[in-house]
Amino acid sequence: MGFKLYSFAGFSFYLFVGLTLHLQVLEFCSAGTTSSYVRKYNYDIDMPLDSDVFRVPPGYNAPQQVHITQGDSEGRGVIVSWITADEPGSNIVLYWPENSKHIFRADGIVLTYKYYNYTSGFIHHCTVEDLEYDTKYNYEVGIGNTTRQFWFVTPPKVGPDVPYTFGLIGDLGQTFDSNTTVAHYQLNPAKGQTVLYVGDLSYADDYPYHNNIRWDTWGRFTERSAAYQPWIWTAGNHEIDFSPNIGEPKPFKPYTHRYFVPYRPSDSTSPLWYSIKRASAHIIVMSSYSGYGKYTPQYKWFTSELSRVNRNETPWLIVLMHCPMYNSYETHYMEGETMRVMYEKWLVEYKVDVVFAGHVHSYERSERVSNIRYNIVNKRCTPTKDESAPVYITIGDGGNLEGLATKMTEPQPEYSAYREASFGHGIFDVKNRTHAHFSWHRNQDGVAIEADSVWLHNRYWKTMAEPSIAVS
Ligand SMILES: [Fe+2]
Repeated sequence: MGFKLYSFAGFSFYLFVGLTLHLQVLEFCSAGTTSSYVRKYNYDIDMPLDSDVFRVPPGYNAPQQVHITQGDSEGRGVIVSWITADEPGSNIVLYWPENSKHIFRADGIVLTYKYYNYTSGFIHHCTVEDLEYDTKYNYEVGIGNTTRQFWFVTPPKVGPDVPYTFGLIGDLGQTFDSNTTVAHYQLNPAKGQTVLYVGDLSYADDYPYHNNIRWDTWGRFTERSAAYQPWIWTAGNHEIDFSPNIGEPKPFKPYTHRYFVPYRPSDSTSPLWYSIKRASAHIIVMSSYSGYGKYTPQYKWFTSELSRVNRNETPWLIVLMHCPMYNSYETHYMEGETMRVMYEKWLVEYKVDVVFAGHVHSYERSERVSNIRYNIVNKRCTPTKDESAPVYITIGDGGNLEGLATKMTEPQPEYSAYREASFGHGIFDVKNRTHAHFSWHRNQDGVAIEADSVWLHNRYWKTMAEPSIAVS
């Protein structure tokens, strides 16, 4: 009897040890991955001004720097923007559905701006409205012998199970690496249909007097994608261009003149924060570099905007901002903390699916965590798992001249699921109301390779306990 008891006790002891070891392994696995991939060293310099990607299109006053973005709240509008260098020329966009002979026209506006000793070309913005959903349109800008034609495809009608594929690019700049990032994105077989751009565009402000010629080169460089699919813009710190010492005290001047966004349809009072609906996603764009404290216009707009989101119509709630709230790199460490303190509880309460940010020139993906219980005196200041929290993804790895952020805080915090100092882009592929797939593609790999990926289960529909729809 005594032997049996000893044996039983012994079994219990070993079971306990085994369980403990097992839990330790699980805990270790959940601590996240710092990639062992070592990126080949490459000094990041801007492409020279005579690079082919900066070439001015031929012809007198030819439209250049053509780019489009969504022009209304639901995807039936497109803002077409372009610049003419010599004279205003025409403000008109001609457009027609592919395989149709009926040509429509829309009239836009033209503006210019000065920045220190630079005077811009004639910047045209024209909103094309009432388009058919899910339709390919050709469009033409310019006049006389120097017209140029492009095309875009409108999204499907907004609805909960509409598949759609977004590309993610941030902090692109105009280096050789930037060029690789755009090429890699364009060749990706996942075929991103719209770019969610998380801020820091041209890096012109890294030049003396913020040489705005580098805004023009950036516009010509990105035209090969941005003229054919909408880029949804977010303002970063390199868009501020605040430089009173050279007589430029107005923040965001070049950016807001060059890149129009549809902020009025979402009842925003500023182009720096706004929202759109596209396919099955509701996308909220925030400004990390505008007032966001309580009672500010952005705060008031954001909190009321959340209450307008209809997850039955657009299950996927995506937030874009430039400065990440969760960042375990040494670069820009804690810079997003004040915004996190102000906004994280809203993101959790409204079950935001994913927050995309840039700013840190690397890649990082978080677990679903929150840090909203901390109240200064309760010592609960470590992020903990939270099924209502978004995944935070830093995708500021477009490849600009400031180089990679390589120094990471150690050890890797448990909230950080994966991090790697390489340039690349992301793909957010919505399958239906319950599932989306995110993948990250480093520039050094073949175009189809996913260096990191994760399935995301929609936060709203998960907690609604709806039957999951099969993932295609
Ligand atoms: Fe930045």
